[in-house]
Amino acid sequence: MCGIIGYIGKKQALPVLVKGLRRLEYRGYDSAGVAILGESEKGKVERVRSVGKIDNLAEKLKGQDISGTIGIAHTRWATHGGVTEDNAHPHFGCDGKLVLVHNGIIENYREIKEKLGDKHTYKSETDTEILAHLIESHYKGDLREAIEHALSHVRGTDGLVAMHADHPNCLIAARLGSPLVVGVGEDEYYIASDATPMLTYTKKVIYLEDGEVAEISKEKMETFNLKDEAITKCVEEIEWNDEQAEKQGYDHFMLKEIFDQPTVFEDAIRGRYNLEEGAAHLGGLNMTTDEMRSVKRVILIACGTASYAAMVGKYAFERLAGIPTEVDVASEFRYRDPIVDEHTLVFGISQSGETADTIAALREAKRKGAFVRGIVNVVGSTIARETDGGSYIHAGPELAVASTKAYTNMIAIMTLYALQFGRLKRITPATGQRLLKALREIPAKMNEILDQSDEIKKIAEKYKDYKNMFFLGRGINFPVALEGSIKLKEISYIHSEAYPGGEMKHGPIALLSEDFPVIGIMTKDQLYDKMRSNIEEIRARKAPLLLIATQGDEGAKELTDDVIYVPDTMELLEPLLNTIPLQIFAYHIAVMLGRDVDRPRNLAKSVTVE
Ligand code: AGP
Repeated sequence: MCGIIGYIGKKQALPVLVKGLRRLEYRGYDSAGVAILGESEKGKVERVRSVGKIDNLAEKLKGQDISGTIGIAHTRWATHGGVTEDNAHPHFGCDGKLVLVHNGIIENYREIKEKLGDKHTYKSETDTEILAHLIESHYKGDLREAIEHALSHVRGTDGLVAMHADHPNCLIAARLGSPLVVGVGEDEYYIASDATPMLTYTKKVIYLEDGEVAEISKEKMETFNLKDEAITKCVEEIEWNDEQAEKQGYDHFMLKEIFDQPTVFEDAIRGRYNLEEGAAHLGGLNMTTDEMRSVKRVILIACGTASYAAMVGKYAFERLAGIPTEVDVASEFRYRDPIVDEHTLVFGISQSGETADTIAALREAKRKGAFVRGIVNVVGSTIARETDGGSYIHAGPELAVASTKAYTNMIAIMTLYALQFGRLKRITPATGQRLLKALREIPAKMNEILDQSDEIKKIAEKYKDYKNMFFLGRGINFPVALEGSIKLKEISYIHSEAYPGGEMKHGPIALLSEDFPVIGIMTKDQLYDKMRSNIEEIRARKAPLLLIATQGDEGAKELTDDVIYVPDTMELLEPLLNTIPLQIFAYHIAVMLGRDVDRPRNLAKSVTVE
């Protein structure tokens, strides 16, 4: 996720900004840059950018005499446009006087660029640079007013900090969905994406809310809404240490990323569907309509959690697009001499985009003539570069080894792709609209489950000492059982297995006892009655039982020791909700057992070797 740091005050800005960028490194980035309002030459903005690590930027800055007490800086996590110096922030408008850094995704940047016309020349592929030119087109001497006018034309999420060579004692910060916090010093202010970079200087902070614009000079800070009405803000004292600030107050990155899911889910789907048409439009697919119609089979290739997301994607492709779809674990696919031809569409699903087995499997599929596309999180990753198109899942950097928000965003993207194919063949606009409306409700429903974290923690306490567990689910909830099981295994080190509910009587039920609990997903879908009878068989063997059930299913309580209720949704979207209590359950057990939750033993975040 991008990182912003700005400074205005009495100190030289450059060292404050570079140190601030280093404090923001944990957010993940692929390029960085600084801009300083130069003192040596009045009215001149000095900008230096580089790809790669902050050290590269620091190297470029060596020997350069860039003095000034106001500046902005940025670490970029590429979303629009590749990892290049030209795409790195800060970005100028046309005249080199206005300069800004930005976090977020501007959904309508193409429309804005068209409206700006050909008077503007661009040097990058970014949506941010277009925003700089939009602000410049509104600038008539008042920087804050120009930014407020410009933002009224922008759709998407934004956090920006801007300055202008003609305003040597002014920084403007604006928040529209992407966090910004202001650190208050003695005749100096810091502005950043989170509190991390300022804690060494001040613990007095002012949090900007969405729709707020701050005009900051060395002497004071004034805040306004987008209608330019003054707002009073209070200064808060934060008690976090540096490490806590990196996790935005959460104890672990994994918990932060579990709670990120509603926000990043919106980032995944934003601008990628048309509700009126009931259709999805993922531009990265890079296939003509005829090519799409020629697809006779889909293969979803992945490893680990990504493969469980792919198993959910299989249901979406078969039910929406009516295309036979199979899921292949990459390490098996690559050695199996798979049947692949020019009518096969292969997706590589991967958070890191660097998983060795998945890369090798995709190369094999490409060699055999398939369409090969990627669904990845890391921009510019090997899978993103080697496939002939695909989509980024916009989950932001996933720093915990255990994958959570990437899993739900992968499912979101596969569901949209399935709809995109389905609307070519069999899905009516009304059906597409119904799916999209249900998809748009997911973030709020995710939050309803996240609000139960403390209750789930109490339940987890009862299960933390067991040595074995079963996770059971049927249909689209079997991949959810698999995902719940791997979460528990990889962070708590408790052995667990996942089974389709109907499989229990074919052997596994022999293991059941009072020492072998079962976590059952029994939500109200077409297989509810079947799953209920599986649960009754389990009850008869006295196994401790935790159920994931649909809100309102009071009967579930009679069947079980513990129940976690989730909101109702379309069956196809259930995994987006039903997985979340299992993520939280595994997390709390691991914490209670004193595990290294973010960095579990023996595991790497990205398995770049066979
Ligand atoms: C998930 O919690 C694990 N860390 C692991 O299974 C992971 O999903 C797998 O290694 C695939 O990684 P990728 O998504 O980066 O390809």
